Amino acid sequence: MKFAIAAGLHVCLFLVCFAKHQHTNIVIVGGIGDLAKKYLWHSALQLYAKSYNENNTISFYAGARVIEDEGNVVLNKILDRILCDTDDKHCHKLRPKFIRNSHYVMLKKGYHYETLCKKLSSEYENGLTSVRQIFYFSIPSSAYQSVAEFVNEHCRHENVTSTEIVLEKPFGLDKSSAKLQVDTINSYFSGSEVKRVDHYLAKSVTKQILKFRFSNRDRLERLLNNKFVDRVEIVMKERIGVKGRIDFYDQTGVVRDVMQNHLSELLALVAMEMPNNVSSSSHIEKNKLQFLKQIRPVSSNAILTGQYSKYLEEAGEEIENTSLSYLTPTFAASLLQVENPRWQGVPFVLMSGKHMDERSSYVRILFREHEFCVTGCEGSNSTFNKYPRQLVFQIGHGSVPSAGILVSRSLLSPVWPEGVRELPITSKDSNIHGQSPGDFYYAVPVHDAPAYVTVLHDLYHGVKETFVTSERVMALWDIWDNVISRSSPTLPSVYKEYEPGNLNFTVENGHLEFIEKVKIINFDHREIASHATIPNSFRNSTLHCLSSPKLVSSLAQNMLTSAEAAVKERGVFHIAFSGGRTPIILFKELVLNFPYFPWEYSHIWQVDERCVPHINPASNFHTLHEHLIKYTRIPYYNIHPMQVDFAGKLCSPASKGDQLYEESINYLIPDQVIDFVLLGVGNDGHTASLFPHSASLKNTKDLVAYTKSKSNEQMDRMSLLLSVINNARNIAIVVIGKDKHDIVHKLSTSLLNNSLYPITYVSANKGNTSWFIDMDAWLGYTL
Ligand SMILES: *[C@@H]1O[C@H](CO)[C@@H](O)[C@H](O)[C@H]1NC(C)=O
Ligand SMILES: *[C@@H]1O[C@H](CO)[C@@H](O)[C@H](O)[C@H]1NC(C)=O
Ligand SMILES: *[C@@H]1O[C@H](CO)[C@@H](O)[C@H](O)[C@H]1NC(C)=O
Ligand SMILES: *[C@@H]1O[C@H](CO)[C@@H](O)[C@H](O)[C@H]1NC(C)=O
Ligand SMILES: *[C@@H]1O[C@H](CO)[C@@H](O)[C@H](O)[C@H]1NC(C)=O
Ligand SMILES: *[C@@H]1O[C@H](CO)[C@@H](O)[C@H](O)[C@H]1NC(C)=O
Ligand SMILES: *[C@@H]1O[C@H](CO)[C@@H](O)[C@H](O)[C@H]1NC(C)=O
Ligand SMILES: *[C@@H]1O[C@H](CO)[C@@H](O)[C@H](O)[C@H]1NC(C)=O
Ligand SMILES: *[C@@H]1O[C@H](CO)[C@@H](O)[C@H](O)[C@H]1NC(C)=O
Repeated sequence: MKFAIAAGLHVCLFLVCFAKHQHTNIVIVGGIGDLAKKYLWHSALQLYAKSYNENNTISFYAGARVIEDEGNVVLNKILDRILCDTDDKHCHKLRPKFIRNSHYVMLKKGYHYETLCKKLSSEYENGLTSVRQIFYFSIPSSAYQSVAEFVNEHCRHENVTSTEIVLEKPFGLDKSSAKLQVDTINSYFSGSEVKRVDHYLAKSVTKQILKFRFSNRDRLERLLNNKFVDRVEIVMKERIGVKGRIDFYDQTGVVRDVMQNHLSELLALVAMEMPNNVSSSSHIEKNKLQFLKQIRPVSSNAILTGQYSKYLEEAGEEIENTSLSYLTPTFAASLLQVENPRWQGVPFVLMSGKHMDERSSYVRILFREHEFCVTGCEGSNSTFNKYPRQLVFQIGHGSVPSAGILVSRSLLSPVWPEGVRELPITSKDSNIHGQSPGDFYYAVPVHDAPAYVTVLHDLYHGVKETFVTSERVMALWDIWDNVISRSSPTLPSVYKEYEPGNLNFTVENGHLEFIEKVKIINFDHREIASHATIPNSFRNSTLHCLSSPKLVSSLAQNMLTSAEAAVKERGVFHIAFSGGRTPIILFKELVLNFPYFPWEYSHIWQVDERCVPHINPASNFHTLHEHLIKYTRIPYYNIHPMQVDFAGKLCSPASKGDQLYEESINYLIPDQVIDFVLLGVGNDGHTASLFPHSASLKNTKDLVAYTKSKSNEQMDRMSLLLSVINNARNIAIVVIGKDKHDIVHKLSTSLLNNSLYPITYVSANKGNTSWFIDMDAWLGYTL
């Protein structure tokens, strides 16, 4: 045997050197900020007390942008307040040493990092054998790139054994920004050098989920699937609001803040395939990733949102521009579906909210009842369900005295994993998750360390599964990216602080729906926020902008007024209806609420028609007949369908259907002035059957023509032309639905190339043009 002893501290055996003295420098960048003040320094002291010894030394540095004198004062204040648990003698003993080993450094520019890291590396010359450095980024994520660059450039000294960086969320605000962040960080650091914190993974009960599944695997794993599980609820309810943090919260909202990360991670832990080896972080990671990729992206009808009623008021006090605040959800419930044979069809409901009725976070697995009670059912609460059977991981608070695991006695008698101990429940509530306390087995973690204490502990000791890999960050965004974009947001339902009763919802056929059908909106604020911006004219014509039921009613009223005036003056009312789906709600309104409409003096014309037989449901006349004509007492000789079908020849030029329609108009309306023309607008700007680039837009000689909906194709429509449309007494242009917001927005700018937007040619020469645009189309989201 041959020993080589270097500097008294290296021990080398057959040229393999065993490090004996490891020193670690932990640099908290942003070390006097909020997170550091609240959690990190306290956790640093705990780490020191647990892990420091003569062979494992640790120094701490707080870096921030203020000069040393200022920073020192703040850091000392923070450290003064960091205390040991009263009975932790070891901690008390080490505390002065911890404080001596905690320093403030100014870290603003590249050269500050250079100076600090040179100093740190010079300490290594004293013969330390293993040297780690950890840079904890407790800073806004917008600063990650520059700090990562500084660390990479100035701190990788040759004798440093390892350099790690620790990132806090947000890991991007959506998929593309997350990808950018990952790529940026990857360009300086390898995957194993980067630790992303999700402190929910460090919660003491979270840590027990896989262990519990493992120790009960024989009985539990065969129950954890779609045959036995009715649903899974993953919930984080908070009493507090976001007052003081509106600026941040407007950027984030509850989905980004806790659902895309914390709650989805919990979901993975309860529903992923059990790794073969629960102690192996690589096995866990592999199964987690596989599972996350089997979750279907959340669709917009699988999410409900709410906002507490004082939110806008708080926003008004805290930020200048509140124009986006009314869209920020402080509550969300969402349904996740897993596409694998094990979980197919099981609803996973994730829910979180601020200013809720209670503070509680949990994962609750509800099992189906397969036994039906036929006799002796008196003791059961319903005829069929004998009792609820559930497994609950109470991550934080709630009705139980402390976070722990609850198992219905009727489910199974659990084998508790090593880190928990069973306790009798002493709860003042008679009802815990719908059962009486006595119905549960209950156990709590032996060491209930605060999450950040565990984060620092696991960071120092290299426990990987507490941290989120970049692959997982991306897989999580794949699930949520759809619903966090602001491209077509829905307005959250307003709820009262601590009384969110109107948010109760149901899960049906892959959808979520509020039970209370009336969406509560705080009009004190909202009507001002939204209506103030609505002018009374649009493109130099009258604008009517209301919610769609009111809009349709006002349009029908407008039509009635004009019909009555026409009948009074001329004894007859000529109206031309467009095709498409939009007029159907108008027809219903007319039929149901306008029984005295003077139909017997009215003539119904068509603005346009498809080249299909009238019995075809795609025919505009078919729609008109089915939804309006058959309910009215209009004389049949007053009905004027466009002649598109001559013995099965559809719109053939030879049959001259267009000329015949023009002749009918000329015969019955010699001055060619139709009293009322109802038009719609397509997303491409088409109106009637006049499409972009259409030659018919320039046709001033005819009243009616065959047209085509796509260039280079056959004539497939018949349409009134602008000459007769613009001659009308009244033109009403109706735009309904949030998918029309784009075209409304385009039309609101006057710099349009008209030939690309036929609707821009529409304008009554002598009569009135009015726009009827509903709130959804105007705002681009649903009230
Ligand atoms: C430090 O290492 C020395 C030499 O191996 C050993 O004797 C001593 O017990 C170690 N100290 C601690 C606290 O582990
Ligand atoms: C690195 O360690 C070696 C051996 O201990 C020492 O000779 C050298 O000076 C150190 N380099 C730096 C930059 O500290
Ligand atoms: C499980 O993984 C741990 C950590 O990687 C390892 O130490 C242990 O040997 C593994 N157990 C088995 C049975 O493979
Ligand atoms: C407020 O913010 C919105 C959305 O970012 C923006 O469109 C609007 O111009 C801003 N208003 C003011 C007064 O800055
Ligand atoms: C179910 O019924 C039993 C016996 O009637 C009762 O003690 C228990 O409180 C009931 N549980 C619930 C959740 O109503
Ligand atoms: C919401 O659900 C709770 C619990 O079931 C119930 O007490 C409450 O009355 C419900 N609220 C409404 C408005 O339905
Ligand atoms: C509205 O009228 C003004 C003034 O005549 C004109 O400059 C503008 O182009 C018109 N806007 C539209 C959309 O026609
Ligand atoms: C408007 O669009 C037409 C058809 O694409 C094009 O020929 C014309 O040059 C455009 N006019 C302007 C002013 O851009
Ligand atoms: C146009 O609207 C004005 C104001 O509502 C009304 O006085 C006028 O009679 C209308 N013109 C026609 C042709 O209906």
